[in-house]
Amino acid sequence: MRVAVCSAQPYDRRYFLAANRDIGHDLVFFDSHLCEETQRMVAGFPAVCVFINDTVSKTVLQTLAEQGASLIALRSAGFNHVDIRAAIDLGLHIVRVPAYSPHSVAEHSVALILSLNRHLHHSYNRVRSGNFSIQGLLGFEMRGKTVGIIGTGRIGAIVAKILHGFGCHLVAHDPQQNSDCINLGVEYVSLKKLYASSDIITLHCPLNMKTHHLIDTKAVTSMKQGVMLINTSRGAVIDTMAVINGLKSSKIGYLGLDVYEQEGDLFFQDLSNEIIQDDVFQRLLTFPNVLVTGHQGFFTDEALSSIARTTLQNISAFEIDGVCQNEVTLELLQ
Ligand code: NAI
Repeated sequence: MRVAVCSAQPYDRRYFLAANRDIGHDLVFFDSHLCEETQRMVAGFPAVCVFINDTVSKTVLQTLAEQGASLIALRSAGFNHVDIRAAIDLGLHIVRVPAYSPHSVAEHSVALILSLNRHLHHSYNRVRSGNFSIQGLLGFEMRGKTVGIIGTGRIGAIVAKILHGFGCHLVAHDPQQNSDCINLGVEYVSLKKLYASSDIITLHCPLNMKTHHLIDTKAVTSMKQGVMLINTSRGAVIDTMAVINGLKSSKIGYLGLDVYEQEGDLFFQDLSNEIIQDDVFQRLLTFPNVLVTGHQGFFTDEALSSIARTTLQNISAFEIDGVCQNEVTLELLQ
């Protein structure tokens, strides 16, 4: 199938070309994001492959449908950036990569926890500039700490397993309890109890109407003094201003983010010579106890191979009989 691959970074090209050797789709890579300004670049392509920073709004989908597209292949698990209802109304099929390497994101979440706890982001700079003082780098043992996991699906369950190895006490909140977590000794509790009892809270739920700004001022107020908050799920699960106020009052003692609500204007590009216009993001960076990575949780060799392979297989399945087991349906929006 002729496939337009949007927002293609050099690593996307490498992994997609390698995976395509045995599959044989006609791949055309575009550096640009897909958006209203660039939607004409993919005219005539039956399949359009997009990433999370592409705009897949109703307007863009309408144009893609008019231009002859029938399939939108997401190189992601999350689909909150796509107007799924509009796509279905337009007769467009959306396929995704539901699980590529939950270990990658889980391990990155734990990396954020450990880095913040032991102040590795400060130690790195200190030692490089010849400052060997350990003043201000005091950490705590993970053993015996209570970690609250919000969302115990594929990623959250692996986080639970890793942290179990550290000897943490694990509590969780999820409308669907995971038997692997229960067998591990994870205790499912209300959000209220999770907030009140957790030394560390880590978010692994999808972004939907129920989880949008789940971590708001009320939630922050109910947390333990000095809590560590980690978000590798989706930026808008957190109300950033509420969290900034929590940091200012020291209610939040540590914040680790791999995602940010307005990340579309920032992440996945080199802006080191630009003036960043996002004052909220810039304020976040002023706190010594905040560690932000630019949506790299998924970014491992294993995950990129798996994303490329599954995306191309999704396209093949659709091309052969119009059916793909990884299609995003309305049921998934519930
Ligand atoms: P999953 O679908 O396997 O698990 C999500 C879990 O959240 C499910 O168990 C679900 O029941 C639960 N959930 C739904 N609503 C909830 C609520 N209101 N409160 C608590 N739990 C709720 O998804 P997976 O693969 O574990 O991914 C989790 C999230 O991680 C994704 O939705 C995505 O946003 C994010 N992600 C981030 C990446 C990164 O690079 N930082 C890469 C891949 C995914």
